[in-house]
Amino acid sequence: MTKNIDINSIARPNVVKLMPYRNTREDYPGELFLDANESSFGPANLVSNSNPPIPASQELDPLQTNRYPDPYCIKVKERFIAKHDCGLSIDNIFIGSGSDEAIDNLTRVFCKPGVDKCLICPPTFEMYEMACEINDIEVLKIDLKTSNRPFQLQIDKVIQTLENDPLIKIVWLIAPGNPTGVALNQKDLLAILESSYKGIVAIDEAYIDFVGDGYQSMAKYVSKYNNLVLIQTMSKSFGLAGARVGFAISSPEVIKLMNSVKTPFNISVLAQNAAFEALSPESIKSMRRIVSEINHTRDEILVPALEKMPNVKAVLGSGATNFILVQFCSSDGTVSNDFTKKLYEILATEFNVLLRNRAHLPGCYGSLRISIGTRDEMYRILEALEKAFEKLNKE
Ligand SMILES: Cc1ncc(COP(=O)(O)O)c(C=O)c1O
Repeated sequence: MTKNIDINSIARPNVVKLMPYRNTREDYPGELFLDANESSFGPANLVSNSNPPIPASQELDPLQTNRYPDPYCIKVKERFIAKHDCGLSIDNIFIGSGSDEAIDNLTRVFCKPGVDKCLICPPTFEMYEMACEINDIEVLKIDLKTSNRPFQLQIDKVIQTLENDPLIKIVWLIAPGNPTGVALNQKDLLAILESSYKGIVAIDEAYIDFVGDGYQSMAKYVSKYNNLVLIQTMSKSFGLAGARVGFAISSPEVIKLMNSVKTPFNISVLAQNAAFEALSPESIKSMRRIVSEINHTRDEILVPALEKMPNVKAVLGSGATNFILVQFCSSDGTVSNDFTKKLYEILATEFNVLLRNRAHLPGCYGSLRISIGTRDEMYRILEALEKAFEKLNKE
């Protein structure tokens, strides 16, 4: 089946009416650019000391950082759609300052403050709820299962809730999940798309490059379901968290609205250049090599070593992401958030090792999330854990 919702009828009416900011350079090619109040001299630190100052040369400032960037990041989008190779076009892509911007933008496009709702399935990434709180949107929650296929959707309940509440404008899902590290069953995701729900199905694929064989991005479904929005990022597999580049992939109707809400020059020249270089065919090959090293380190070094430690109760989520979720226990095998908090604090204060405490989230009792770094970094965390356990077990 396909789904073709009237996207404008579910978006905020004020957003549908918006005319996107347009700069003069979108209308004329130009040669002498005196339209945007930029500096013709270039970055001040690269301008000569002479009087009058001589503008920085192209050699000194090859990216022309004195000029505003391309508002639509066309070169980056061209490379991004080539990576996906499933018939996407530039009109299917929004680029944000990290996927955090895409999440906030989508919330603002579709949810009327004080009226509409979003559905999330905890444990999940905190930005969805945060975007809702900032925008005064009610958040409904249906936890992931904790037993019998742990960290999968309670699919019947999710679909029933979505079908029965027209005020739910977005359902936020992650595949594979954070902090669960588990890939959601794509049959469930397709069942949501196939249901009679008439809102946005947002599936965050931040960790998609780490999933093993057979599990692929749902980008090919964007042409079938115009309410599907995929979120991706250059912060994880591509190693560009500092550049802040994230994507939404969706139907042209949704992308048009997202582009009209964004600030005109949201991605800097430097970030666009970093993303463009990282999406070259050679760099994508390099990314895949790094991903396979991270997956090897996770599965062959970190997880087996952790599973031998008496203070590790279970590796709860692993196998599909560049992190794992680990449940800890005291020497008598008891799991408690108290023990885990002490461990977390000792690691941070005595060993300068920072992990993420997820113990308060549903299904994550007593758990910390550990990012997978280099092999050396994993040997260091294993050593720090041994020493921290020694100390805690004496208490
Ligand atoms: C599921 C998920 N989505 C989005 C993000 C944010 O990514 P970005 O750095 O692109 O804002 C993260 C970051 O941890 C994440 O785990």
